Amino acid sequence: MNKIELAKDIYWVGKIDDREVPFHRLILAKGTTYNAYLLKTAKPTVIDTVDMEFGREFVEYLSEFIDPNDIQYIVINHTEPDHSGGLAALAGRAPHATIVCTELAVNELKEMYKLHSRNFLVVKDGDTLDIGGKTLKFKETPYLHTEETMITYCIEDKILFPCDIFSTHVAASKSLFADEAGFDVTEDFIGYYNAIIHPHRRYVRTLIQALQDLDVQMIAPSHGYILRADIQKYIDLYATLSANTVNNKRVTIVYTTIKNNTKRVAEQLQHFFEENQIQTTVFNADKADKAEIIASIQAADAVWIGSSTKYADMIGNLEDLLIDLKDLNLKGKIAAAFGSYGWSGEAIEVIQDYLLQTNMNVQSTSQVIKSTGMTHVEFPVRVRFAPKNEQSKKIEHAAAFITDLLQSAI
Ligand code: FEO
Repeated sequence: MNKIELAKDIYWVGKIDDREVPFHRLILAKGTTYNAYLLKTAKPTVIDTVDMEFGREFVEYLSEFIDPNDIQYIVINHTEPDHSGGLAALAGRAPHATIVCTELAVNELKEMYKLHSRNFLVVKDGDTLDIGGKTLKFKETPYLHTEETMITYCIEDKILFPCDIFSTHVAASKSLFADEAGFDVTEDFIGYYNAIIHPHRRYVRTLIQALQDLDVQMIAPSHGYILRADIQKYIDLYATLSANTVNNKRVTIVYTTIKNNTKRVAEQLQHFFEENQIQTTVFNADKADKAEIIASIQAADAVWIGSSTKYADMIGNLEDLLIDLKDLNLKGKIAAAFGSYGWSGEAIEVIQDYLLQTNMNVQSTSQVIKSTGMTHVEFPVRVRFAPKNEQSKKIEHAAAFITDLLQSAI
């Protein structure tokens, strides 16, 4: 294969996988590529690797460009094994290389590849690294699409290495450059976005803003085509696809509370939704009229039900309401349980059980993980004592997830 040079001293050293690849419960009918890059500077640096299945082949190909002994840095933007997998083979052949990644990635890489005694350089948002003739700038991109991810930008060459972001799943065998693909790659680019990135669109919007500070002339992602023409079109596509486009959504929140902690959770949810222009109605089930609550639930797009826990059960009038909900047609509505608790929080689980007996789309941690891979969003929302600090973040993550479900056109 001819050597592919993106800019002076920057080479593609990845692997084209033209099989039908099983991936994230999809079959990649057009295959994919695992793009890794070598920056052959005074301190030679590799950015990302390939799927672990191709680790040896990767190191062999890389060795056509450089003696792995000379590699000084290996940048790992994302720890998922389709990009970090080659580290298993490369780390041993590049004993002097420091592994560059985010703080959250360090332990993952140590555990995954038995790298406990390796040198790591932890980088944070905005940090730069002089690799001898070129400078890399790092930006943390949590949840795009996993928590530890970052992107790398080469300042001198204006090339962005965003790993999964801006990728396509195509075995780009004719040319790795989109402008030489022989067809318009836009449909594949959007298909990839919808399958992998869209569940995390809230964080895409943050990324797009951050990119405004960078002069990006080329995007070299870790799957599929390298983009060097019409860059702004691809960035704009992400901006458009990740924008919230659906309005006029309604949320109803119903709670009972002992010492107002569950009430505070309800209020935090309400505040979040209202900030996102979602009309929100909140009821204390012990004070409001049941018929009025039910009417509000029937008109809502998402329903939250919460209770404090006392003697391992819900309190107040909530159970009466939940019994009635089972007999209503609430199809198409999103539902979530929540509550503050001190010991075990049984009430929250009992509410969840009741909600599962309705025909609403009841959110669960399991469902979130299966559909998005996100592990920081938990349902039901269980808040220990007062909703402060980490507990408060949990509420915000869950509210953000529901907001995105409500406001996305896809
Ligand atoms: Fe291409 Fe998240 O791996």
